Order: sequence, then C-alpha cells, then structure tokens
Amino acid sequence: MSDGGDRDASEADGGDAADASGDADRGDETVVRRERFAGGPARSFLSSLADDERIFAADLAVDRAHVVMLAEQDIVGRETAGEILAALDDVEATGHGALPDGEDVHEAIESAVIERVGPDGGKMHTARSRNDEVAACIRYRLRADVLDLIETVVGAREQLLDVARAERETVMPGYTHLQPAQPTTVAHWVLSYEQALRRDTARLLDAYARINQNPLGSAAFAGTPFDVDRERTAELLGFDSVAENSMDASATRDFLVETTSAVATLATTLSGLAEDVVVMASKGHVDLHDDYSSTSSIMPQKKNPDTLELVRGRTGDAVAGLNGLLTNLKGQPRAYNRDLQRAGRHAWDAIDSVTESVAVAAGAVATADWPAETLEAAASDGFATATGVADLLAMAGVPFRTAHEVVAEAAAGLEADEDAPDYAALSAVAEDALGDPLSTYVDREALEAALDPVESVAMRDSRGGPAPDAVDAQVSTAEDAVAIDDEALADRRRAVDRADERLRTEVDRYA
Ligand code: ARG
Repeated sequence: MSDGGDRDASEADGGDAADASGDADRGDETVVRRERFAGGPARSFLSSLADDERIFAADLAVDRAHVVMLAEQDIVGRETAGEILAALDDVEATGHGALPDGEDVHEAIESAVIERVGPDGGKMHTARSRNDEVAACIRYRLRADVLDLIETVVGAREQLLDVARAERETVMPGYTHLQPAQPTTVAHWVLSYEQALRRDTARLLDAYARINQNPLGSAAFAGTPFDVDRERTAELLGFDSVAENSMDASATRDFLVETTSAVATLATTLSGLAEDVVVMASKGHVDLHDDYSSTSSIMPQKKNPDTLELVRGRTGDAVAGLNGLLTNLKGQPRAYNRDLQRAGRHAWDAIDSVTESVAVAAGAVATADWPAETLEAAASDGFATATGVADLLAMAGVPFRTAHEVVAEAAAGLEADEDAPDYAALSAVAEDALGDPLSTYVDREALEAALDPVESVAMRDSRGGPAPDAVDAQVSTAEDAVAIDDEALADRRRAVDRADERLRTEVDRYA
C-alpha cells in the first residue's frame, strides 16, 4: 500500500475519516470522539488535556513532521498536507487554551485541524496512533528539559570552580560522622561537589542518547500498512535514531525512568551539599548572602539557610517522582495501557523541581562568604591534625598502626579545653611506646608543623588531595571537563535547532 496518492481525499472522495467527522461543529463533542465516549462522569478523569499543555508545542512538531512525511510518501496529497500544515500554524497561534475539549492534546489538536480544514483534516492521523504520537511528544519535550537541566548543572559547576579558585587556601575543618576529622580547604570541599555534578552531567547526557530516538511510525504498536518513512520523521524531529521494534517503541517509558533516576541522583548530590552548608551555617563557618537566607517571623536575630533546606527537601520531589514512575510502569503488559498517561508527570515534576534546586544551591555557595579565620581556628578542633602526626611518624619508619596508637594515647590524655597535645605531651607518650625519644623519629619543627592545620593541609598533596597544588590540578581537570560538557551540550542543541529549522523549511514548502 505504498501508493497512497489516489487515496487522498483532498483530490478524490473523502474516505472513512471524512465520513466519520462530517460536522465539525458539535459543541461538546469533539469531531474525533464523535458521540462515542463523549461524556459521562469519568470524562474529566480520562482527560489529560490540562497536563498536556507541556507537550502542546511538541505535538505540533510531531504533527508537522508526520504530515510532511505523509505527503512525501504520497500517502496524503500535497494540497491536503498544505491545508493541514496551515491549520496547525493557526492552532499554534491560538494556543493550547483555545483547543476544543478533548481527551488529550492529540485529539484536541486533531479536532481543531478538522474544524479548520474540514473532513480532510482527518488525514493527519493516517498511519499513526496516539500511542506512537504521545511517545514521540514526550521524548521531544523531555530532551529540551534535559538539555536545560544539563546547562544549569554545567553552569553550577562553573560557579563552584570560581569558589574553588577563590578559596584555594581557605583551610576548613573536614568531618566524618560529623565529628572533626582532618583539616581540608573550602576549595577541596567544593571540588568534591563539582566532581559529583560531573557524573550527574554524564548520567543526563547518557540518558539523552536513549531519549532522543524516534517512536513515530510504530502506530498503535503493531506497525502500519502505509509506506511510512521513519528515518525521515526522525530527521525532521531531530531524533538521532529510530526506536525500531514498534511494540517496544510505543510502550516503553524506560527513558523516563532513566532520566528521573539521573535527576534523583543529582538531587541526592545536591542534598549533601545543602546539608553541609546548613551545618556550616549553624557553626558560623559560612555566611550566606541575604539573597539566599531567610528570617524568622518572631526571632529578630535569625538568619536561616532556608534555601539550602529547600534544596535538601526537594530531593523528596525527585525520589517521589522516580518511585511514582516505577510504580506506574511496573507490570504493565504490552503494548499500551492508559496508565501511561500518568507516567510523564512524575518525570516533569522531578526535573522542574531539581532544575531550580541546582541553580539555587550553586548560587548560595557562589555568593557565600567563607570566614577564613574562624574556619582555620575550627580546623584544629578535636585534634583534627592527629592523622597528620601519625603520618609523620609513619613516614619516619614507625609502623602506621604503632603511630596510630601513640597519637591515640596522646589524644586520650587531652584536657577538656585542649584541642591537641603539644610537643612535650606527644614526646612523653612516644618515648613510652617506642622506647626512643620522639626526636629520633621527627624533629620538633616538623611535628609542630603537622599540628598546624595549614601545614597539615599542605602535607596532603597526593593526587586529588587538599594541598593547594593538588587542588590546582583538580581545578584544571574540572575546567577541561566543563569545556567538554559545554561542547556536548552545544552539539545537541545545534542538532535540535537544525532539525527545527529543517522542519520549518519543509513545512513552508506547502504554503
Ligand atoms: N493521552 C494518552 C497518553 O498520554 C494518549 C494515548 C492514548 N492512547 C490510547 N490507546 N488510549 O498516554
């Protein structure tokens, strides 16, 4: 049935679609639904029209690409195609709000086209189903949202890098179990989140590759007798490839799962950063800009890190989205079930919520003030330099385990108001344990340096460590990674823009 030219109702007699939709003006009933299933108590329950505003523009693009392809394949005549395409432009101009009532945006747009074109407008839905149509719309819209999210994440990484460069030598306490652990720097801390966001970016880019595939031409799930050109609609819509098996292509929403999972992982990264900043703020280790703070309605002295708490809290939105989506999809049989109409919203909610979080979290960190003196003083709290002292003894040949014991014993002997043992105290314990005076192993100067948080940081210049030189190397790696991801993003945006232009050019040929 590849020769569809003489089936074109614009030049010949109207086919079934024409007969079925003779009267375009039926008030409450749409031309697509006709009298069947038009009303009843479940009407609004069935409808996704309001939610579908999100895919209104996507549906118009999908319709255009499909109609252009139908015309190119002689499935629909040129003239009819031109009328449908003109009607789609008009539908776009009047907007989603002006659509006739319908079960969903696909049906409503089709009705609006038939209202404008007459029965031949019904040829638009030749060789497709709402099943492949909606799958294409979701993918088309989602990829734009994912690109925006990636752009926001890459921008956030750039902001974190600015902080890393500015706070290269700002020593701060590092914690494990929220207990003072070892001194580090603000740069090292912030780079730890850049590196995590780098992986989050990679996960989103990876998901993008599987989002950007063309399900159109699968029809309901079982293909179509019409000679559709699925590569052509892929090209016109900027999809990188064709989702081949028509049953899978219509049914699957795993690209939503993958994306929402990447979004939930990203939200989890942000929640850690947010929690760190909330804790820092409570200790006076960071001073948030007023723009990112809130006050109390009763306690006049308060300046609260509410923005970061909301970033932390929004993780729930993303995790809920992933959970809702997986629960929606679990156990759905092949090929299409109406459950799917409730799948997209979970991904949209997650991605909207977290995109905002990324920008706010990065903005809060980028505009914060890091009180260097307070941080350096706090970096010695709780004998946080202890590991460095043990390292020093181990570097002098004492087995690390023995060095660990010596320092632990010195730590146990500390008075409540003391942060670290002095040279004399360490000496006494060391001589007891090692049988030799401490000076046999380390000189006083080196040991006192190890007790100083700035020196303690400087010692740890292993790859990826907090010493300023090691931090410089990480900044440089991160800069390269940002540049690569920026380019990857620009590349995908260019491809999408090119496809949009191509589609417009093709549509204009029918004017
Ligand atoms: N609004 C529907 C959705 O989002 C479109 C597909 C309807 N298909 C069907 N076979 N009832 O899933």
